[in-house]
This record gives sequence, structure tokens and C-alpha cells, in this order.
Amino acid sequence: MINLRIDLSNVEQFISGSDIEKKSFEIQKHIESLRTKTGKGNDFLGWLDLPDNTDASLLASIGDDAAKFAKQSEIVVVIGIGGSYLGSRAIIEALKHHFSGFLGSSGNPEIVYAGQNMSEDYTVDLLSLLDQKEYSLVVISKSGTTTEPAIAFRLLKQHLVGKYGEDAASGRIIAITDREKGALKELSDQEGYKTYVVPDDVGGRYSVLTPVGLLPIAIAGFDIAEFLKGANAMKQQIFAETYDFETNPAAIYAAYRNALYEKGHSTEIMVNYEPKLHYLSEWWKQLYGESEGKEQKGIFPAAVSNTCDLHSMGQYIQDGLRNIFETVISVEESNYFQEVPFDEGNLDSLNYIAGKRISEINHKAELGTTLAHVDGGVPNIKIEIPHINEFVLGELVFFFETACAISGYMIDVNPFDQPGVEAYKKNMFALLGKSGFEEETKEILNRIAK
Ligand code: PA5
Repeated sequence: MINLRIDLSNVEQFISGSDIEKKSFEIQKHIESLRTKTGKGNDFLGWLDLPDNTDASLLASIGDDAAKFAKQSEIVVVIGIGGSYLGSRAIIEALKHHFSGFLGSSGNPEIVYAGQNMSEDYTVDLLSLLDQKEYSLVVISKSGTTTEPAIAFRLLKQHLVGKYGEDAASGRIIAITDREKGALKELSDQEGYKTYVVPDDVGGRYSVLTPVGLLPIAIAGFDIAEFLKGANAMKQQIFAETYDFETNPAAIYAAYRNALYEKGHSTEIMVNYEPKLHYLSEWWKQLYGESEGKEQKGIFPAAVSNTCDLHSMGQYIQDGLRNIFETVISVEESNYFQEVPFDEGNLDSLNYIAGKRISEINHKAELGTTLAHVDGGVPNIKIEIPHINEFVLGELVFFFETACAISGYMIDVNPFDQPGVEAYKKNMFALLGKSGFEEETKEILNRIAK
């Protein structure tokens, strides 16, 4: 049984039923080619097996390492970028106390992140924090050669060795990388770091159910077995023996967003009303942007966090260019209870909502916004979840991953490669004078000298 529901009542008026019927037949074929691993990029379909084929011994080992790191660290720095970072951050931020960093020890270390930027100020601030804290490192890079995490790891490794000495520092580093190749693998073997493997057939943005996501999530104190169980519940629903469009959330989502795309809605805005879901949107942006955005095709993935962004992006969404649609992740139940208090003076005129829960007001804001945007010509797909926990997040992850693969097939691109990511790297290496890039260096220097 899955918890996730899709409400299409505010999108149906924009799309014809016969369009969706056609798409349903097409999607059945795409699901079959995922199941039989015969579609584009089929050497990168290992993520399909993760929910129900992750070894108990792997989970036990992750659990042991998480406990060890929790014992020895106030902070664990997770180093990685893109798919080697966004998944774990999305889940940890969704589950943790909003202010855990200020609350002192909960028994689990605070997770901080490095290697997603090349900001000198960020780096120096992080090092000065680590001067004062007990910490350990998890360094994640499938290729083992990505510049941003490599720079961060070089710096943090030196800091760690300076603080704890060579031997103790090795016990405070876990590397997650390729089974056999890449600089990080070589260094790990040389220094004797504990390592976990990023499977060959799982791309970065599909890797949150591998140790890439599971280890940081477990270190932060969350239940990775439940997370996998939720993903598996979704897998069984999507890949049920008999294809049934009406009860297949990945098929429905892929069909409606593709139908909207064909009608000119080329930007999808992922909307949340819970700040803890901000990084889930960041993860989703990478998943869909890198998977669909190629060959001059693909829906542009954007995101807002409401009600905050109603005061910044609300104007555009209501009245701007009509090439957008919204997908709202709607959370039914809050974890806590808080009412608006009554105030004798009522100078703020809020007594009309005194006694109402904050969540009820938030839900009314959500509904009011949806209706206003629909009236303004913005179709709205609503993804309902009952609450935020590990199981439901597992469902969401596998739902979005599968719908993304189907969406890529629907626009006839390979959803599992990312050739376009190399262009900036080539220019950066040429500008930095990296060896092997001599020709590119000459060309780029000529170009910018003009
Ligand atoms: O999804 C992807 O493949 C990318 O976002 C990568 O995860 C990202 O570029 C980091 O690569 P690596 O793990 O090799 O350092």
C-alpha cells in the first residue's frame, strides 16, 4: 500500500481525456522497457533494483559505521556535488529538526556539506567551525575526479590530519566511490579508508538509495530500512504485474506533465509549503533537469517554497508568461500542534483566526493559491502525502525517479546520461591551464582577448 495520491482536479481542464488515453498506452511500453531493461541508457538501470535488492549486510555495515561516526563526531562533513550530494541532503533536511544545529547533542552529529561550491569564504568559515568541533568526513564521488569535491577533500583531509594525526584521521574518513577506478579509489586504497561502492549501473542523480544517500542519512540518525521499504512499496505499485494507468502514480504524473509540455507549458514549478522540503525540490530539479534537458528538448524544472515565495515569485506565476505549470507537494498532517493564540488587543486583527492551527491556515493559503493560479492559466498537479517520514520519502524518491525515466523516454532522450555537463568543465580546465587541455587553453585565451 502506498500513501502518495495525485489530485488532477486542477489540471484536467487544460488537457483532453483522449490525449491522456494515448499517453497511457505509450507509457505502458516505456514501463515494459524499464522492466526488461531494453530502453535507452539501459546500462544505467541499477536503481530499479535497489528498493528490494539491497543486501541486509550492506545496511548492517552502514548502521555500524553510522554509530561509530555518531560516537566520535559532533559534525560529519559530507563532501560531494550533484547526484553525490543532493539526495542525502533532501532526505536529511526533510526529516531533521529545523534548528538542530543550535540544540546541542541529540546523539547524532550535525551534517554539514562541502564540495558543492568553490567559494573561498564558505571554505574558510567551514574550517574555522571544524577547528572547534570533533568531526569526521564522508567523501562521495562516483568518478573520483570531480573538481569541486576533490578540492574540498584535499583541504579537509589536511585539516583532519593536522587535528588528529595521520592514523586517527584515517578512521574518520569514509569514501564512497567507484569499485575500482578514479583518484578517490586509489587514494582510499593507499590510505586504508573504509569505502563503499557506487554501483556501476546507477548514475549520480539516481543514487540516493545506494550508500551515497543511505550512509549520510543513517549518520544523521534516520531509519534507512524504512526509507527503502517506502521505495519498495512504490516500486510494487508502479511495476505491478498488470499495468493499470489509473493506479500507477508514475504513469499519471509522466502523462500529464508530458501532455502539458506538448501544449506549450515548458516550465514546471515544484511547489512546497513546508520549508523542510526545499532540498527535495533541489534534488528533483537535478533529476529532471539532467535527465530531460537535452537535444534542445525538455521541461525546465524550477521550484518555489511557499508561502515565502508567494511574496517574490507569486506575481510572475499569477500574471507572467503562460508557459508554466505547477506541481505541488501537499503534506496533510504536521508532526506537531500549534494554534494561533487569542490576543485581547487584536491590533493585528488576527483574532478571526485565533484558535486555528498554523497548518490549517497554511492549507488554506495553499488552496487559495492553487485556485488563483489555475484561474490565471497555470495548471496544477497536486501530489498528496499524509505526513513526512522515512517511508513516505522513500515512496516519493522512487516515484519521481521512475516518472523521470518515463518522461525522458516520452521525449525520446536518454534519461540517464548528461553530456552537457562537460562543456563548462572543458572551459574551466582550459582557463586553469590543466595539462591535456593545451589546445583548448589557446582557443579560449584568444576568444576572451578579443
Ligand atoms: O548525476 C550526476 O551524474 C552528476 O550530478 C554527478 O553526480 C556529479 O557531477 C558528481 O559526480 P561524481 O560523483 O563523479 O563526483
